[in-house]
Amino acid sequence: MLSTHPSLQNTGYRYLPKITSLELPPSPNQELMPLTAKVNSEDKLEIGGCELGLLVEQFGSPLYILDEFTLRTACRQYRDSFATYYSGESLVIYASKAWSCLAVCSIIDSEGLGFDVVSGGELYTTLQAGVSSDKIYFHGNNKSAAELKYALDVGCTIMVDNWLELKTLAAMSAEAEKAVKIMLRLTPGIECHTHEYIRTGHLDSKFGFDPQQIDAVFTFIAKQTKLNCIGLHAHIGSQIFERQPHQDLAGVLAEWYKKAREYKLPVETLNVGGGLGIRYTESDDPPSISEWVKAVSKAIESACTRQQLPLPKLIAEPGRSLIGSACVTAYTVGSSKEIPEVRTYVAVDGGMSDNPRPITYQSVYRSVIANRMSAPLTENVTVAGKHCESGDVLIKDASLPVAQTGDILVVMGTGAYNYSMASNYNRIGRPAAIIVNQGETNLIIERETYQNLVERDRLPERLVRETSL
Ligand code: LLP
Repeated sequence: MLSTHPSLQNTGYRYLPKITSLELPPSPNQELMPLTAKVNSEDKLEIGGCELGLLVEQFGSPLYILDEFTLRTACRQYRDSFATYYSGESLVIYASKAWSCLAVCSIIDSEGLGFDVVSGGELYTTLQAGVSSDKIYFHGNNKSAAELKYALDVGCTIMVDNWLELKTLAAMSAEAEKAVKIMLRLTPGIECHTHEYIRTGHLDSKFGFDPQQIDAVFTFIAKQTKLNCIGLHAHIGSQIFERQPHQDLAGVLAEWYKKAREYKLPVETLNVGGGLGIRYTESDDPPSISEWVKAVSKAIESACTRQQLPLPKLIAEPGRSLIGSACVTAYTVGSSKEIPEVRTYVAVDGGMSDNPRPITYQSVYRSVIANRMSAPLTENVTVAGKHCESGDVLIKDASLPVAQTGDILVVMGTGAYNYSMASNYNRIGRPAAIIVNQGETNLIIERETYQNLVERDRLPERLVRETSL
């Protein structure tokens, strides 16, 4: 079993999950490290039965390392909790904006979940991964006509966000003589405590219909022959630790549901969005997946009973809490700079291009030196990236052992909104990503090469000149 000896509490060991049985694993979103993280007899960090330093030797650095067991566990906990706590039908759909790639979609599909996509590109990726279109829900506040046509052609459910989309779809489906399943996104007017950029449910939000318009929207839909409005949706924000906002949302959704039935719309699905937070630091305290599912399920059940409504099919669309804690990013330590009395910078070979969350949302992360896990945490340093930008700092106050050039520095909790928001700033190629499972590794995304960085550049003929070297 994993050591929790007091002498190790001030070392990288303190972040390890306290797993007592793999059959009954803890909720991944409450752990700082993937569930399979452990320290081997050489004091090195292993995930999925693989030593991180060896993975970096094999696949290069930086490297996203996704633990398949943790991802599958989160999927199962969502799915099984709904089966336990919700009396009606339910479906968990993965908000693939958190990380959309073939392997991730394929794993999640194999666990029986559906998918939330927000662009033609995400739709294409899920379809390429073999996901059936009846499990795909297409979101977005400004889908292009081409994206709507694509969604109509493949037959996924379209989450209609605004009047332009509603009217475009009404016209498209009538012209194609093809029925389309839609759900309406409304703004619930619910405040929650999270970063203002990732709050979406308050009234001043670019997403969804203003509920004041609900009668006009329902009247319009009721007149369309090809628009089947099967459900209603709202999403209140991301990285939320409270249960109350989603419980309040249940009441709001039930009211809209009741009204939809008055208009005789075939609504039978309510979607409560995503938003459950994960633990990035010791002080983050999100509810477990099952606690969250229980709270949401009971709130929907009691709101519908109060309004004398039949139990709807219940959808939730988590992103971060499904995949966030399943991945870590391994970097290699390069230069350090000590500014006496001020701070010490420890630079790694990645940064804001592979993890833009600290610079965008001031997100806080934890890290370890994976090749010396029990070394005492004597230093308080700033882990800086390698980009030409002073703000390119991954962790402002990192508690670490003395870091040496060549050490493997691992940042935890990088599964959600890291690869998917990565860029090529400074023409730095995006890192490779691998999955690990019981000592096996598979490359899931190749590292971008210099050649990849220029392959879509075009040099107009008139600019081509003889290069004199
Ligand atoms: N459903 C809708 C309609 C959403 O807009 C989102 C996230 C989700 C579900 C999934 O939420 P989650 O379970 O992941 O909290 N880039 C930001 C997060 C943006 C979230 C956008 N919408 C970040 O890195 O924190």
